[in-house]
Order: sequence, then C-alpha cells, then structure tokens
Amino acid sequence: MLINLQQQPADALLALIKLHNADPRADKIDLGVGVYRTGEGETPVFAAIKGAEKKLVEEQDSKAYLGPEGDMAFVAALMPYVFGKDSPDMGKRIEGMQTPGGTGSLRLALALAKRSGIDRVIVGVPSWPNHAQICADLGLGVVEFNHARADGKTDMDALRAALAGAGEKDAVLLHGCCHNPTGIDYSHAEWDEIAGLIAEKKVLPILDLAYQGLGNGMEEDAYGVRRVLVAVPEALVCYSCDKNFGLYRDRVGALYVMMPSESDLPRVMSNAHALARANWSQPPDHGGAAVRLVLEDPTLTAQWLAELDQMRDRMREVRAKLAAAGKVGAVDMTPFGGQNGLFSIVPLSKEQVLEMREKHGIYMAGSGRINVAGLTMGNIDNFIDAVAQVTA
Ligand code: LMR
Repeated sequence: MLINLQQQPADALLALIKLHNADPRADKIDLGVGVYRTGEGETPVFAAIKGAEKKLVEEQDSKAYLGPEGDMAFVAALMPYVFGKDSPDMGKRIEGMQTPGGTGSLRLALALAKRSGIDRVIVGVPSWPNHAQICADLGLGVVEFNHARADGKTDMDALRAALAGAGEKDAVLLHGCCHNPTGIDYSHAEWDEIAGLIAEKKVLPILDLAYQGLGNGMEEDAYGVRRVLVAVPEALVCYSCDKNFGLYRDRVGALYVMMPSESDLPRVMSNAHALARANWSQPPDHGGAAVRLVLEDPTLTAQWLAELDQMRDRMREVRAKLAAAGKVGAVDMTPFGGQNGLFSIVPLSKEQVLEMREKHGIYMAGSGRINVAGLTMGNIDNFIDAVAQVTA
C-alpha cells in the first residue's frame, strides 16, 4: 500500500532553512522562516528562559506524565497576559490546555471545530500556509477573502463580504496581531467592528495569537482577541510561545476555549483532551515548564518583558530604516515602517525572489515575505541595493 503514495514537495518555508545553510557565501542573508535575530544575526535563548531552565534542572523531581492537558499551571500563568488580568471570564468561562506549539493548538482548535459541526473556515489571504494545510488535512472547506489592499491597509470590505455570506456552520480564523505574512494588522476601530460582525453572524472565532508582544506590546497586541471575546458566546484562542519566549524548537503553545457558561467547559475540554490523546497524547513539558517558571517569578518576568521590549525596539529600528529608503527600484518601502511583527511582504515576482536568492544570496519566502529580524544595520543596505537591482 505505501508504495502508492505520491511524492510531496518539501514545505517551501522550512526548505529555505536548508538552502540557506548550504550556501557558502559569507554575505548571505536569511529572511526566511520566522525566528527573531539580534543585531548580530543571532537567535539566543532568552536570559529569562535560561534562568528558568536552571531552576527546572535543580528543582524538577519527576518527569512522569501529566496528562493530555499538559502543565495546567503554565496554562493558567499565561492567561492574564492573553485575557487581561481583570478578565471576569478567566478560569470561569475560559479554560485551556497546553499544546505542542501554535501549530498543535491550531490543529486542535480546527479539529474541535470540525467535531462540533463546523464545515468551513473563513481565512484572509495571504495567510500562514499551514492554516490552509491543516484545514485541508481535516477535510474543512476554506473560504478565502483578501486580507490587505494594494495601498497597505486591511481590506475591510472583503472581510465584511466574507462574514455577510457566513453562517453558524462557519468559523473565521483571524491573526490576533503581527499578521503573518503581511505585517498589516486591524486597527482598534476595525476590531470593534469585526467583533460585532462575528457576533451578529454567529460565526465561531478562532484567533491565532502567535506573536504577542512583538507588535506594539503584550497588552496592546491582545486588543483584538479581548475585543472579540467580549462580543461572542464561544471562541477558540490558539497561542504560541515559540516567538515571544524564543522557544521555537521546544514547541510551546496553548489552546484556550471560551464557552457561554462555566458548566459547558468540562464537556468541550473533554473533547479537546480526547483529540490531543489521539494526536500526540501529551505535549512536551520542558518549554512550557520554563515559561511557567518565568511567569511565576517576578524577577524572571521583568527580565523576559525587558528582553521582549528589546526585540520589538530592534524590529522597529529596522522597519524605520527600510521606510526611510522610500522608493527602491519599483518597491515603495515606506509602508514597512508602520507594519507589525516579524513579517512584511516585498512585492516581488517569483522570478525576482529567485534572483534575490541566486544572485544576491538573500533568502525569502516565494510570496516575497521577509523576516525583518533577519536584517541588521550591517546587511540592510545590501538588501535595499538588491531590491533596487532586481526591480530596476
Ligand atoms: C513562519 O511563518 O515562518 C513561522 O511561523 C514558522 C513556521 O513554522 O512556519
């Protein structure tokens, strides 16, 4: 039987990591997969995480199983950051569980939605490619709408039209902040409207919060999620600690479920636990335990938040420098200055993206997405020159 399987292409984004590593050029630039880099081009372990890991090694007295929900103290410690420390629903109408990264959380959220009767998922495009891949794998239909307009603003008309055609068997999957791949986020006023439309159409919101703190701050980046949650009876929030705690390969995430009342939660969570058991049984512990130790210790928490501030400041600096370059060849870099998080899209053709790679050693996704954290004050001029050359 296995002989019948067809060859699948490697994941285009993850394949870039290997292509970049194999390139012998000393001045190559990696703007591919979304990992934060310092001004020296490094992705170090957060000092706060190192501190927590030290404690973990010293204090952890068992590695026995915890169950499909993982480390519930980790899940609880994160909640005030996601839902606000004064949220009346936290621990009442909202419950969570640990997942292997944001992808594990999305997989679980979408499988839970499907199990509850959802047929279709409304997704703004372009989106993170794994959104559509998970939907396809689960047999969920995808309804696409255009996320952003050519002028760099969100395409609210497209979202309004998509929601106008939606019903109770539909879910809408939205990026909570730092939209991947465009960096173009909804304003507060837009979130206010979106929350109302979702509530009116009784669509299930699935909110993907994978970059909290990398846009405008931990509180600011939670606006959309919190705004939608006050408007609707049910919601799913998919959380990733991969970026904001720098834990990428340790796979640290959480799924939060909000229900109309506290008494609905055990039934729904029992389904989420059963799905987790059938998928990965239990999430990996180490990274989640490190996050918990950071959040339980005020000194480590302050250190983590300061490290997050530094990351954000550096990305703002890179964005400001790109914006200051203005029109470069055929590309206007001005809008990159106001966009959020790790990503922006450089409007290049597939051929131009290839030329950036082959001629200039600059690695970026086929969509023209760049990871702005891959740019440093040492290589940004080369990047700008290369864009000018390939679009001349
Ligand atoms: C990205 O979009 O680069 C990140 O979310 C990493 C990934 O898993 O694709």
